[in-house]
Amino acid sequence: MSDNKVILNYDGKSFEYPIVESTIGDRGIDISKLRDQTGLITLDLGYKNTGATISNITYLDGDNGELYYRGYPIEQIAEKSSFTEVMYLLLNDDLPTTEQFAGFEKGIKQYNFVADEMKRLIDVFPRSAHPMGVLSALTSALIAFNPKAVDVRSKEDMDHAAEMLIAKFSHLCAWTYRKKMGLSINHGDDSLNYVENFYKMCFRRPNQEFHLDSTVVNALDKLLILHADHEQNCSTSTVRMVGSAHTGLFASVSAGISALWGPLHGGANQAVIEMLEMIEKDGGDVAKYVEKAKNKDDDFRLMGFGHRVYKNFDPRARIIKKAADDIFAALGIEDKALDIALQLEKVALEDEYFIERKLYPNVDFYSGIIYRALGIPTEMFTVMFALGRLPGWISQWKEMRLHNDPIGRPRQVYQGATKRDYVDMSAR
Ligand code: CMC
Repeated sequence: MSDNKVILNYDGKSFEYPIVESTIGDRGIDISKLRDQTGLITLDLGYKNTGATISNITYLDGDNGELYYRGYPIEQIAEKSSFTEVMYLLLNDDLPTTEQFAGFEKGIKQYNFVADEMKRLIDVFPRSAHPMGVLSALTSALIAFNPKAVDVRSKEDMDHAAEMLIAKFSHLCAWTYRKKMGLSINHGDDSLNYVENFYKMCFRRPNQEFHLDSTVVNALDKLLILHADHEQNCSTSTVRMVGSAHTGLFASVSAGISALWGPLHGGANQAVIEMLEMIEKDGGDVAKYVEKAKNKDDDFRLMGFGHRVYKNFDPRARIIKKAADDIFAALGIEDKALDIALQLEKVALEDEYFIERKLYPNVDFYSGIIYRALGIPTEMFTVMFALGRLPGWISQWKEMRLHNDPIGRPRQVYQGATKRDYVDMSAR
């Protein structure tokens, strides 16, 4: 390897592959000519070493536990910014001026309603339906009411599409919550900001005067900021992959919701609470569950532990842990799940198995505990993650289309049967 290329010696020949530079972090080897030149492909299960794209949106350094949105460290963003500002930042290149921010908020508010026919759709789901399934279906259904394709090269068109999806998606998330709780569903209130509006749509009771609780709104704002983007994770890669077939924005996001649902990804926040409840019911023996997680013959994993990229700590988990302490103190709540989580964290962090494998609590370890304190039902936790991740999905979809990334179409190493003749059923 020289500074800017990698040399591959294969089959008596030498091939050169250029290094693609980064501003920070991993550089890449451009192997786009590899198959044509050598007849070989690369094999990288789970894409652990494969860069799927070149991106300017989010940077994360897994060894040092750093996360930047458009270059701004997550600690500063979580402390000083708002979710609406972060949405603007991700969708554009930089933080907004006062005028740009006002224009963005106004743009979102003009779409602060959802077609009334959509209410009939949500009516037909049973109350037992998982909110993530309902959310994915409703997001797909939005296309029928907004069928115009987005011209990504037109800034105006793209801005409108993003603002529309951002506004309507908060309704769909609030509606899935109200459906679960057996409450009537309603439209937004333009006098409120985005997070306040979402909060009101969720928690307004038909029989009570509505009161905005600033502790809860601030907690929600922070949680949404922390989930807003995380570069090429499973759901974002899904959104980009589906969109690479020039599938529309709403349909691509709907696919991303399904990817997020899985317990190894966004569904981990639900799985963490279920695990903590299980440990509590079983007498609170934390060490027993740490042993189970280490046992290779047992499928049990410590949910909320480990991350594909962070091999030091997840900076979002640090911020969330502190937020959880603040919220519990402000709301005067005591929660057995939090005690068990703290014990579990302590035991696991001192255990050789977890130290060796660099397994630390991730963002989902504490987010569920906060959602629970805010009165959000367990099955809704991943919906909250989806609401936070939406600006990331839209920004990444937009970037992928603007860069004209080719359709995503991986290769495979085939190890199945070689060519053989069909045998009639009677002769098998
Ligand atoms: N509990 C016990 N062992 C674990 C865990 C865990 N939570 N996570 C990883 N390991 C072990 C794993 O068994 C393997 O051991 P060995 O080397 O002996 O075979 C080693 O650690 C490496 O694990 P891996 O599965 O190869 O790592 P990965 O990068 O493919 O998986 C992960 C990352 C997040 C899917 C995994 O750590 C996990 O399943 N964690 C629990 C689910 C979870 O909390 N997911 C939320 C991720 S953060 C939010 C998000 O991005 O959505």
